[in-house]
Amino acid sequence: MAPPPRLAILLLCIFFSLAAAAAAAEGCGRNTSLEGYEADLRMSQHQLRGRVAVLDGCSFRVSGLDLLAGSSSARWWRAQGADLESLSRGSPAAADPLNRTFASESLVFRLLPGLSWPLVPFLAAFDPLTSSLFGFVRLPSNTSDSDPTDSDSGGDGSSSSAAPTMLASCAQLSPRFRVRWTLNESANAIDVGLEAAVGSEFYMAFGWAAGKPASMIGADVAVVGFTEDGLPFAEDYFVTKRSECVLRGADGGAEGVCPDTIYGGRNGTAAEVNNTRLVYGHRRDGVSFVRFSRPLVSPDKKYDVQVNATKNMTVIWAIGLLRPPDSLSPYYLPLNHGVPAGTAFGFLELNVSETTSCHGPLDADDKEDQGRITAERQTPLVVTVGPAMHYPNPPNPDKVLYINKKEAPLLKVERGVPVTFSVEAGHDVPLYITSDAVGGNATSRNMSEIIYAGDSKSEGVPATPTELVWLPDRNTPDLVYYQSLYDPKMGWKIQVVDGGLSDMYNNSVLLDDQQVTFFWTLSGDSINIAARGEKKSGYLAIGFGTAMVNSYAYVGWIDGDGRGHVGSYWIDGKDGMSVHETHENITYKRCRSENGAIVFEFTRPLTPSCSGRVECKNIIDPSTPLKVIWAMGSQWSSGRLSVNNMHSATSNRPVRILLLSGLAEAVQDLRPVLAVHGFMMFVAWGLLLPGGIVAARYLKHLKGDLWFQAHTYLQYSGVAVMFLGVLFAVAELRGFSFKSTHAKIGLLAFTFTSVQPINAYLRPHRAENREILSRKRVIWEYLHVFTGRTALVAGATALFTGLQHLGHRYGSKTIKGLTCGLVLWVVSGVLVVVYLEYIKVKRRRDGADGLTHKWVLGNTEEDDSVDLLQSDRFASKMKSSFPGPEEVQLEPLKG
Ligand SMILES: *[C@@H]1O[C@H](CO)[C@@H](O)[C@H](O)[C@H]1NC(C)=O
Ligand SMILES: *[C@@H]1O[C@H](CO)[C@@H](O)[C@H](O)[C@H]1NC(C)=O
Ligand SMILES: *[C@@H]1O[C@H](CO)[C@@H](O)[C@H](O)[C@H]1NC(C)=O
Ligand SMILES: *[C@@H]1O[C@H](CO)[C@@H](O)[C@H](O)[C@H]1NC(C)=O
Ligand SMILES: *[C@@H]1O[C@H](CO)[C@@H](O)[C@H](O)[C@H]1NC(C)=O
Ligand SMILES: *[C@@H]1O[C@H](CO)[C@@H](O)[C@H](O)[C@H]1NC(C)=O
Ligand SMILES: *[C@@H]1O[C@H](CO)[C@@H](O)[C@H](O)[C@H]1NC(C)=O
Ligand SMILES: *[C@@H]1O[C@H](CO)[C@@H](O)[C@H](O)[C@H]1NC(C)=O
Ligand SMILES: *[C@@H]1O[C@H](CO)[C@@H](O)[C@H](O)[C@H]1NC(C)=O
Repeated sequence: MAPPPRLAILLLCIFFSLAAAAAAAEGCGRNTSLEGYEADLRMSQHQLRGRVAVLDGCSFRVSGLDLLAGSSSARWWRAQGADLESLSRGSPAAADPLNRTFASESLVFRLLPGLSWPLVPFLAAFDPLTSSLFGFVRLPSNTSDSDPTDSDSGGDGSSSSAAPTMLASCAQLSPRFRVRWTLNESANAIDVGLEAAVGSEFYMAFGWAAGKPASMIGADVAVVGFTEDGLPFAEDYFVTKRSECVLRGADGGAEGVCPDTIYGGRNGTAAEVNNTRLVYGHRRDGVSFVRFSRPLVSPDKKYDVQVNATKNMTVIWAIGLLRPPDSLSPYYLPLNHGVPAGTAFGFLELNVSETTSCHGPLDADDKEDQGRITAERQTPLVVTVGPAMHYPNPPNPDKVLYINKKEAPLLKVERGVPVTFSVEAGHDVPLYITSDAVGGNATSRNMSEIIYAGDSKSEGVPATPTELVWLPDRNTPDLVYYQSLYDPKMGWKIQVVDGGLSDMYNNSVLLDDQQVTFFWTLSGDSINIAARGEKKSGYLAIGFGTAMVNSYAYVGWIDGDGRGHVGSYWIDGKDGMSVHETHENITYKRCRSENGAIVFEFTRPLTPSCSGRVECKNIIDPSTPLKVIWAMGSQWSSGRLSVNNMHSATSNRPVRILLLSGLAEAVQDLRPVLAVHGFMMFVAWGLLLPGGIVAARYLKHLKGDLWFQAHTYLQYSGVAVMFLGVLFAVAELRGFSFKSTHAKIGLLAFTFTSVQPINAYLRPHRAENREILSRKRVIWEYLHVFTGRTALVAGATALFTGLQHLGHRYGSKTIKGLTCGLVLWVVSGVLVVVYLEYIKVKRRRDGADGLTHKWVLGNTEEDDSVDLLQSDRFASKMKSSFPGPEEVQLEPLKG
């Protein structure tokens, strides 16, 4: 009896679901309040453009559909909103896959059975596989009835159904450059959108040429582009000369391709001449898009061309590299666009009243806009979180992962080279390496993933970072992802490649600001060097020296034909004229561009085998630290250099590289620990130890054992301070190294000083057999005095060599002052000693010195000690030696 009811229930279910489907199909033809509603698709990715029109209860037309292909899971999608959370909870709205490129097509799509418009508050183009939003329209709910009939007048920018990327007309200027525009004649305005598949470092210029025949001179162009922070800008420019903008200092004038405000600014008419308004801009899929608005007939008759909306007019356009603002000019200035016509610049007859269109979306070769980081052996990658500014795959969370301070960069790793992450992104953001493009636990999204490294324990904060080491091996696929274990879409791609610079070079360090990596291998009497920029640039320069001025520089650049060059230079000033090309014997030169970032390599001898020329002094001594700086800019050439070759980014300070050990450190101001070392040594060698010697020599005439106490206390404290000073130096330099003169002399002083207390302890005591012991004692005293004074001379010398050493490391400004001070100190010490010596001699002549013929160094218990050094015989012959380098003159003892 059991089966039939079950069967009945099953049949009943099927019946009801069929009925529901039928009802939905029936409702499809029914008119809805949305019928006739139209809206532009808002572009998010994949160059999506198109206008959605609701046809009836369950179908819609998309006209002018442009889209770069998504994966086979990309669909029209329904969701409550366009944010990450809503989209991931949404579901497909139509069956057709968006897995191909759509080029200006007009298509009708049907909603999936069972769906009706009230269930589709947002219609999006979405790829759940990579969680990528291509674009969306918002459909008004049935209550908030913005009258659907007036929406077809959209495109004027005021209607909420108009997207800033949608303009009425489009003209193809070159294969990778388009202009789109919407004419608004009644408002005396035209909206222009410039679109080009170029890097973010390029400008796009478009405007109207004056007069006939068309010429670049007198053209009124808008120059648009992106700042280094990725923000769009649009500026009104006027061309007075076929050159880059040059400011004439005296009268404040300018010529070339300059902003209107430079010409007109002086008269206080900046507001009038600056009449190009930025409306919108973005970079998506390697394509720049900037929309601006300008008047057709401008009040500025001088620097604006009047546009007749109904006439054929000549327009002029160009794309080229942009020079960032610097101290000379506060503007982003377009550099010479170069040739050929039709690719880099061109003219076109255009009547803005005629509607034309372009075919399909722009497809850039290089769609990846993110910063790049290449992992190196031994150099940890610092993983933090920060605000999402330009996350490559919207929608995205507010906070995303940063590596080495770059937002969600593309990470490049080499198989066989371990990658170390220092994870300090917070306790709720553990890092893991996964095959899943979205991250944040694929299992919870019913997807599978392979985890290569990381788990819930690989989390940390800046105070207690956690190290995560991952070794990509030969089984690791070419593309994996770094992500947060709990939250989706915080990380980005990891490119896994075979072999690279880290394979070919033994050592590498990141230079200052982590924008340039320096590689080297020492081989015999030559050195192989490579440098790699970590961001896009036209050239990369590294220099040996503490600053650009007085440095030997090596520049790698790619010329207009795409060939790489490496050149060597000597720089003795701050302008283009002070960069002198040199003829260094560099071999194995190679320069290439890896996705826009310059990599160059060369080999040079450690010691140039020439003489006379400046580059012959460019000697690399592997045992002394090499100070390395860098710079990057947009353009370089082998001939004469100009202001265009100025760098746009540079290191803030040199990095000292120990070529033998592979270690590097940023050059800093006087290291506190070394300063303490220096001060302690000064106290020991400049004050306490000489003080003790002076006490032993000149205080003997005082009653009691005062001189002896002063001598021992001063010497013991001097030795103690010296010990501490040595420890400080050892701690700072992480070990002993006796390569430098300073260390050698210091070691000598240290040894002599250390034997003195032992020596003093072992001194022959006075005994019965006075004759023999006296002799021993005398020899011992000679020894003691000799060692002590040698130590003092060595110590004082070490003070000077120490300052010299410091000068080599940290530049010579403060060191000169310190050296002068020390010289003064020594001289005054010598003077004091000379004076004391004089007093002493005088006292002895007066016969007041009752202590002659007493041993100097005896313990006071042995009160009959004789002052060997005080005895007339010697004293008269002895020259004061403190603390100068003159040697103590001791006469051999008679009898
Ligand atoms: C719905 O369609 C019917 C005819 O099919 C028409 O009479 C009616 O006016 C339409 N209603 C609306 C709101 O468009
Ligand atoms: C897109 O998907 C459809 C259905 O899954 C398939 O038939 C078609 O070949 C795919 N097109 C492309 C270009 O992958
Ligand atoms: C929209 O209309 C549907 C029926 O067509 C109704 O169920 C829903 O409550 C309406 N929404 C609002 C916000 O009034
Ligand atoms: C500034 O104004 C003066 C007169 O007011 C005019 O002669 C001069 O040409 C103007 N300069 C510019 C750059 O417009
Ligand atoms: C032009 O005007 C815009 C806003 O109206 C302003 O942001 C921009 O700085 C101005 N440019 C100059 C060069 O004054
Ligand atoms: C624009 O040019 C047309 C002829 O092509 C002319 O009739 C019209 O007057 C011009 N308009 C203006 C504002 O100059
Ligand atoms: C305007 O230019 C188009 C082609 O660009 C040409 O076909 C048309 O004849 C021109 N009109 C006039 C009035 O010159
Ligand atoms: C992912 O989520 C599933 C269930 O939602 C859970 O069992 C699993 O432990 C999670 N994985 C990680 C690595 O947290
Ligand atoms: C340049 O160096 C190579 C080896 O490093 C040497 O063979 C060659 O003679 C040198 N040339 C000059 C001009 O010094």
